[in-house]
Amino acid sequence: MTFSSSLKSTIRIIMLVGVLLVAASAGNFNQDFDITWGDGRAKILNNGQLLTLSLDKTSGSGFKSKNQYLFGKIDMQLKLVPGNSAGTVTAYYLSSLGSAHDEIDFEFLGNLSGDPYILHTNIFTQGKGNREQQFYLWFDPTKDFHTYSVLWNPQSIIFFVDGTPIREFKNLESNGIAFPKSQPMQIYSSLWNADDWATRGGLVKTDWTQAPFTASYRNFNAQACIWSSGSSSCSKSSSNNSWLTQSLDTTGQARIKWVQKNYMIYNYCTDTKRFPQGFPPECSLA
Ligand SMILES: *[C@@H]1O[C@H](CO)[C@@H](O)[C@H](O)[C@H]1NC(C)=O
Ligand SMILES: *[C@@H]1O[C@H](CO)[C@@H](O)[C@H](O)[C@H]1NC(C)=O
Repeated sequence: MTFSSSLKSTIRIIMLVGVLLVAASAGNFNQDFDITWGDGRAKILNNGQLLTLSLDKTSGSGFKSKNQYLFGKIDMQLKLVPGNSAGTVTAYYLSSLGSAHDEIDFEFLGNLSGDPYILHTNIFTQGKGNREQQFYLWFDPTKDFHTYSVLWNPQSIIFFVDGTPIREFKNLESNGIAFPKSQPMQIYSSLWNADDWATRGGLVKTDWTQAPFTASYRNFNAQACIWSSGSSSCSKSSSNNSWLTQSLDTTGQARIKWVQKNYMIYNYCTDTKRFPQGFPPECSLA
C-alpha cells in the first residue's frame, strides 16, 4: 500500500466512524431508550424521533435509557400535558440504583387550564434527598417543546431550562457534603397520577374525563461518559468535552439569580419550619 492510499483509507475510516458517532449523538429513542411500563401507553414514533407517554385511569407509562452515564451534559425537549393537567406529574430524572442512590430530578406538576405548572427539582446523594426547589416557568410548557438539561460533572450539577441555568449544586465534598461522582445513573421518565399531592397540595384532583393525558419528548442529546462493565468512557462525538469542566460564568450566575428572584416559589434552604435546628450545610456554603 502506498503512503497516499493508506492515508486515504485511514481518512475513510475516520469519516465512517465520525458519521456513526454523530448519528449516535443526534439521539434516537429506539436506540437510546427502552419503554419500561404502561402496557402500550408509551410510544416511540417517527422512526425514533418522537416519544410520547400517556396516562389514563388505569395506568401511566414510562421509559428509561439503555445506557448508564457517569457525568454528562444531557438535553431533552419536552412538551407537557396540555389543558387541564391537574393531578398529573411528568417526572424526568437521572438516578443510580440501590438504597444509597444518587438522583437528579425534574418533576413537572400539572395544573388547571391557564394555571401555572410547577417545576419541582431535587437532588439525592447517598440515598438522601430533601433538597427541593420549585419554580414557575417563564413560558407555557404545554404549547411548544422546551429544552431541559442537566450538566453533571465532577465540580457541580446544574439544571438548565432552554439554556438558562436555574439551579446549581456544587461539589462541596471538602466540606463533608456527599456529591454524586461514583455511581452511574440512567435517565428515566414517567407520567403518572399524583392527585393526592401534586396540584395545590392535592386540593385539585385529576379530571379523568380529559384522559388520556399525553406528554411528548424529542431531540435527546447526551454528551456524556457512558458506563460499561465497571469503567466509563466519554463520547467523543463532538470531539469536545468542554462540558466536563464547564462551570457557571458571571453571566450564568446572574441568570440563576434572575430565575431565583422572579420564578422560584420554594427553596428548602429558606424553609425555617422544616429545619428548626438549622439549614443543611450546603445552604450556607453555596
Ligand atoms: C396551580 O395554580 C395555582 C393557582 O394559580 C397555584 O397556586 C399553584 O402553584 C399552581 N401549580 C400547582 C402545581 O399547584
Ligand atoms: C467546545 O464547546 C464549547 C461549548 O459548547 C465552545 O464554546 C467551544 O468553542 C468548543 N471548543 C472547540 C475547540 O470546539
